[in-house]
Amino acid sequence: MRSASASLLSAVLMLTVKLHAAPAPTVSPSAVPSGSSQILEDPKFGPIPDESSYYTSDNSTSRPFPGNYSQPVFPTSNGTAGADDLLFQNLLGAEWAIFAFYQFGVETFNQSVFEEAGYPSHTYQRIIEIRDNEAGHARIFEEQISDASTKPAPCKYQFGITSPVAYLAAHTVVEISSMSFLTGLILQAQLNSSKAALVAIAETESRHEAWGLIDIWQQSPFAGPADTVFPYANEILDTTKVFVVPGSCPAGNPDYPVPSQNLPSLSYLETSTTLLPGSPVTFAFSNPINQPHFEADQTYYAVFFHGLLSITEPFDIKTNASIIPPEFEAKGLFLAVISDTPGAPTIGSVKAGPLVITEQPVEVNSGIM
Ligand SMILES: *[C@@H]1O[C@H](CO)[C@@H](O)[C@H](O)[C@H]1NC(C)=O
Ligand SMILES: *[C@@H]1O[C@H](CO)[C@@H](O)[C@H](O)[C@H]1NC(C)=O
Ligand SMILES: *[C@@H]1O[C@H](CO)[C@@H](O)[C@H](O)[C@H]1NC(C)=O
Ligand SMILES: *[C@@H]1O[C@H](CO)[C@@H](O)[C@H](O)[C@H]1NC(C)=O
Ligand SMILES: *[C@@H]1O[C@H](CO)[C@@H](O)[C@H](O)[C@H]1NC(C)=O
Ligand SMILES: *[C@@H]1O[C@H](CO)[C@@H](O)[C@H](O)[C@H]1NC(C)=O
Repeated sequence: MRSASASLLSAVLMLTVKLHAAPAPTVSPSAVPSGSSQILEDPKFGPIPDESSYYTSDNSTSRPFPGNYSQPVFPTSNGTAGADDLLFQNLLGAEWAIFAFYQFGVETFNQSVFEEAGYPSHTYQRIIEIRDNEAGHARIFEEQISDASTKPAPCKYQFGITSPVAYLAAHTVVEISSMSFLTGLILQAQLNSSKAALVAIAETESRHEAWGLIDIWQQSPFAGPADTVFPYANEILDTTKVFVVPGSCPAGNPDYPVPSQNLPSLSYLETSTTLLPGSPVTFAFSNPINQPHFEADQTYYAVFFHGLLSITEPFDIKTNASIIPPEFEAKGLFLAVISDTPGAPTIGSVKAGPLVITEQPVEVNSGIM
């Protein structure tokens, strides 16, 4: 039941639909109130990524640029949307949640809190630096969206985290998940330059992840020969919507993500599994208002992704039981979905998930090291 990624990915590419950025109202520059977010349309405004050191060492605890603007940037041209505008609108929507996660950390904790919890004295400074990098990502993605499409603004987010250890566990999950959806977005990119930009951003997230593995978890920073490719990036983006305060997004923002399958979310019973390769696992569908619909006469599968591989295991709809593939190396990231087809070869074959399982260290999944 093992399928090499090459066949999986070619299947994805074959059914790739041409995506178009969501239509939006346009504004003419003269109609822009001064001081509004519309100034962000100007790529020369504010610190410039990779010129200014601002996105490495702003150091401020208040929201850095461009996170200090709260309204979307409306199109200033009626021209055709850029080929990858929708991709970067989706990515900027995800980036605002990630930026907000780090800004929340900067505002909620301080150096002494991390030190007293037993972490290195520079932990808080690193969180600030990562926050500054994420602000730079937001600015880079704004610039990747053409002036014929809306650049989304941040919503409000809630993370339900109070302790430094839960925060650092979430940091590890956020970074490794973003490495995975960035890799998946490359399958949607039309422009070669977009693909290269996505790799460059994923590399930066990988550095953040490696820092946490060394300094926070005192582990090897390495995760085997390849991090995980998951073909349906928007399904991961969809899971980030749990952090958005309902109704808090500015009215002019495009929908996020587009397209969205709104799949039932997938979790697991903590007592059922170690999450290590070969462990049994009982899945759970944790959102009571979005439950899966399984046909009694249909066979379903748990499909696990790791590195460039996917491995399909049985899934029992009566018990919700499956097994973590014993073949996988216990490194990096596993992603699991429930599918009606071995290998989950099409996006439509995915019926629930994905579930993010971090193997390094496996305890971060429950946030209670
Ligand atoms: C930010 O903090 C770092 C580390 O303490 C320091 O090297 C850098 O000069 C600071 N940057 C600014 C702009 O204060
Ligand atoms: C946001 O921050 C930038 C960079 O510090 C600054 O130039 C701009 O005036 C700020 N804008 C608002 C609305 O706070
Ligand atoms: C876009 O087209 C509309 C309708 O023709 C027009 O009113 C508007 O000024 C145009 N906007 C820009 C930025 O050219
Ligand atoms: C750090 O945060 C803790 C908990 O909120 C607080 O008690 C402490 O005074 C803060 N320390 C500094 C140096 O701000
Ligand atoms: C992307 O790169 C490939 C290989 O060099 C080239 O054949 C193709 O035309 C490029 N596509 C675009 C849209 O530039
Ligand atoms: C399996 O999941 C379904 C859907 O959430 C739920 O109704 C059922 O109670 C679960 N069964 C077991 C044995 O956990």
